[in-house]
Amino acid sequence: MRNLHPFSTFFLFIFLFLPLLLVLVHSYDGPLYDYTAHTECKLRPEKPLYNGGILKNQALSIQSIGDSSNAIYSPAFLLHNLTARTYYSFSSWVKLGGAVSSVVRASLRMENETYNCIGTVLAKHGCWSFLKGGFFMNLPSNFSILFFQIFDEGDANISIDNASLQPFTEEEWRVNQQLTINSVRKRAVTVHVSDKQGGRLEGALINVKQISKDFAFGSAIAKSIIGNLPYQDWFVKRFNAAVFENELKWYATEPKPGVLNYTTADRMLEFVRANQITARGHNIFWEDPKYTPLWVQNLTGEELKSAVDSRIKGLLSRYKDEFIHWDVSNEMLHFDFYEKSLGANATLHFYKTAHEIDPLATLFMNEFNVVETCSDVKSTVDNYINRLKELKRNGVSMDGIGLEGHFTIPNPPLMRAILDKLATLNLPIWLTEVDISHSLGQETQASYLEVVLREGFSHPAVGGILLWSALDPNGCYQMCLTDANFKNLPTGDVVDKLLKEWKTGDIEARTDNHGSFSFYGFLGEYEVSVKYDNRSAASTFPVSVGDETKHFSIQL
Ligand SMILES: *[C@@H]1O[C@H](CO)[C@@H](O)[C@H](O)[C@H]1NC(C)=O
Ligand SMILES: *[C@@H]1O[C@H](CO)[C@@H](O)[C@H](O)[C@H]1NC(C)=O
Ligand SMILES: *[C@@H]1O[C@H](CO)[C@@H](O)[C@H](O)[C@H]1NC(C)=O
Ligand SMILES: *[C@@H]1O[C@H](CO)[C@@H](O)[C@H](O)[C@H]1NC(C)=O
Ligand SMILES: *[C@@H]1O[C@H](CO)[C@@H](O)[C@H](O)[C@H]1NC(C)=O
Ligand SMILES: *[C@@H]1O[C@H](CO)[C@@H](O)[C@H](O)[C@H]1NC(C)=O
Ligand SMILES: *[C@@H]1O[C@H](CO)[C@@H](O)[C@H](O)[C@H]1NC(C)=O
Ligand SMILES: *[C@@H]1O[C@H](CO)[C@@H](O)[C@H](O)[C@H]1NC(C)=O
Ligand SMILES: *[C@@H]1O[C@H](CO)[C@@H](O)[C@H](O)[C@H]1NC(C)=O
Repeated sequence: MRNLHPFSTFFLFIFLFLPLLLVLVHSYDGPLYDYTAHTECKLRPEKPLYNGGILKNQALSIQSIGDSSNAIYSPAFLLHNLTARTYYSFSSWVKLGGAVSSVVRASLRMENETYNCIGTVLAKHGCWSFLKGGFFMNLPSNFSILFFQIFDEGDANISIDNASLQPFTEEEWRVNQQLTINSVRKRAVTVHVSDKQGGRLEGALINVKQISKDFAFGSAIAKSIIGNLPYQDWFVKRFNAAVFENELKWYATEPKPGVLNYTTADRMLEFVRANQITARGHNIFWEDPKYTPLWVQNLTGEELKSAVDSRIKGLLSRYKDEFIHWDVSNEMLHFDFYEKSLGANATLHFYKTAHEIDPLATLFMNEFNVVETCSDVKSTVDNYINRLKELKRNGVSMDGIGLEGHFTIPNPPLMRAILDKLATLNLPIWLTEVDISHSLGQETQASYLEVVLREGFSHPAVGGILLWSALDPNGCYQMCLTDANFKNLPTGDVVDKLLKEWKTGDIEARTDNHGSFSFYGFLGEYEVSVKYDNRSAASTFPVSVGDETKHFSIQL
C-alpha cells in the first residue's frame, strides 16, 4: 500500500475523495432523512415528519382486511404507484380506544405480496404514541394498502394521525448514509508544519496514515483461534473488536457443579490482549433454559440462588476490567428462566451485582428480532425500551443496548427507524451478532450483509458492530466470511471492501503557503511524517470525535 507512486494516493484523494465530499454536501437537493423519534406517549401528536411526504393531504379510509369470512376493519392508507427500488420511511401517531394498551402493527399489502410488519408501536389509551418504520419496494406496485392491526383481542380500536410516508431513491438513501458518515465517523484535520522558531514551512512533504480506527468493528471468535496462527493473523489484520462465541457461557466455564474451567477463555483473552482488541463479555446468564447448564436447570430456590451468585461473582471478579461490555441477561425479552425461578427482581439483582464487581463495564441487554424484523411481538422496540426504562427506574446505570442482528431479509428503513427510537434513550447501542441466514445463497448473504453493515455504520447512534462469524471447525453458525483456508467467501469480500472504505487512505501531500495541509479523516489514530530539505520528523496523533477541526502541529 505504501509503495504506490508518490503522488498517486494524493491524486486519488484530490480527484476522487474531495469532489465526492463536496458534491455530497453542496449539490444534494433530495430529501434529508429525519432521525426524529419519540418514546413518550403524548397528549397531542407532533407534526408529521417530512410534512407528510406522499401522505400529505391523503385521508385515512377504513378498509376490510382479511378474507370475507374473517374480515377485520382497519384504518388504512391507499397508496398508488409505489416505485421500484425505493426506500419508504413511514411514521404516524397512534392512539388506542377500548383497551389500556396494545401493540399495534402496520402492514403493507401489495398486489401479490404482503409485508406483514413495517413498524410497530405500543399504543395506549388516552394518549398518542409514535410509530416509526418503513419498507423497501423491490418491484413497483400500482396499488397497495398500508393498514394497522391491533394485537389485543376484544373491542379495541385505534386512531391514526399525522402520518407520513417519504420515498428515497437508492441514490438518495446512499447519499444520506454518506452525509451521516461524514459528520459522525469523520473529522476535519489540519496539520501544521513549522520550523523550531515557528516559521511556516511551505512545500513540506507530508505522509499521513491511519493506523487504528475508533469505530469498533469485529467478529465473534471461537476456541479454534487458540494456537491457530493463520486464523489469528487473518483476524488481527481486519478487526479491532471481538466476542467469544461460546467460551464464557456458563455451560462452558462450569460444565459440572463446582467444576470451574476458564482455561479456554483465558487463552482467548491472551490473544485479545496481545493484539489490543476490544472484547465484549458474552454472557453472564442466558434466559433461554435450553442453554442453561443441565445441572442448573434442576436447581430451585436457595440452591439456584447460591449457584447464580457464585457464577456472577466468580466470572466478573476473575475478568474485572477485561471486557468492555457484559451481556447480563441474554435474551430476556424472549425467555425468563431466572426470573421465573428467582422472582421478578432477579435481573435487577444481576445488574447490581455485576456493576458492583466490575463498575467500568457497560452492562448490556442483548436481543434478537429487534432490528431484524418487527413481526416478533416479544421483542418490539417499545418492549425493549420499556425493559430498559424499568432497569433505569430501579437504579441500573452503565447499561447498553445489544442488538443481535441475525437477519434473513433486511428491511433498511425499518432497521433505521428502530435505531432512531432506541437512540432516544442515549445509551450505547451495538450490533452484537450480525449475520445473514444460511438459507439464502452465498451471494445473497453477501449483498444483504452489505446492506446491514452500511445501515449500522451510518447510524449516528451505533457504537460498534460485531459479526457472528466465528470460524469453527464444523463451520460457522449461519455465515462464514472465509473458507477453512481463509480464502474469502463473498461475505468476506464485502467485509474487506467496507474495511477499506471506512478507513482514510494513505495520504501524501505538500503543505500550502500557510505551512498546513487539511483532510477529512475517519476517527482513529494517525501517523504523520514530514520531510523538508534534509530535515524530517514523525509523530502520531488521535482524531477523536468532535465537531471542530482537529489541529495538529509538527516541528522540524
Ligand atoms: C397533528 O395532529 C394534531 C391533533 O390531531 C392536529 O391538531 C395537528 O394539526 C396535526 N399537525 C399537522 C401538522 O398536521
Ligand atoms: C398511477 O400511474 C398510472 C399509470 O402511469 C396513472 O394512470 C395513474 O393516474 C396513477 N395514479 C395515481 C394515483 O397517481
Ligand atoms: C373505540 O372504543 C371505545 C371504547 O370501546 C369507544 O368508546 C369509541 O367510540 C371507539 N372509537 C371508535 C373510533 O370506534
Ligand atoms: C403479480 O403477479 C402477476 C401474475 O403472477 C404478475 O403478472 C405481475 O407482474 C405481478 N405483479 C407484481 C407487482 O409483482
Ligand atoms: C400497473 O400499471 C402498469 C401501467 O399502467 C400496467 O402496465 C400494469 O399492468 C399494472 N399492473 C398491475 C398488477 O395492475
Ligand atoms: C479445562 O479445559 C481444558 C480445555 O478444554 C481441558 O484441556 C482441561 O483438561 C480442563 N481441565 C479440567 C481440570 O477439567
Ligand atoms: C436433573 O433432574 C432429573 C430428574 O430429577 C434427573 O434425572 C437428572 O439426572 C438431573 N440432571 C442433572 C444434570 O443433575
Ligand atoms: C424489586 O426491587 C424494587 C426496587 O429495588 C423494590 O421496590 C421491589 O419491592 C422489589 N420487588 C420484589 C418482589 O422483591
Ligand atoms: C542540512 O542542510 C542545511 C542547509 O540547508 C545544512 O546547513 C546542514 O548542515 C544540513 N544538515 C545535515 C545533517 O546534512
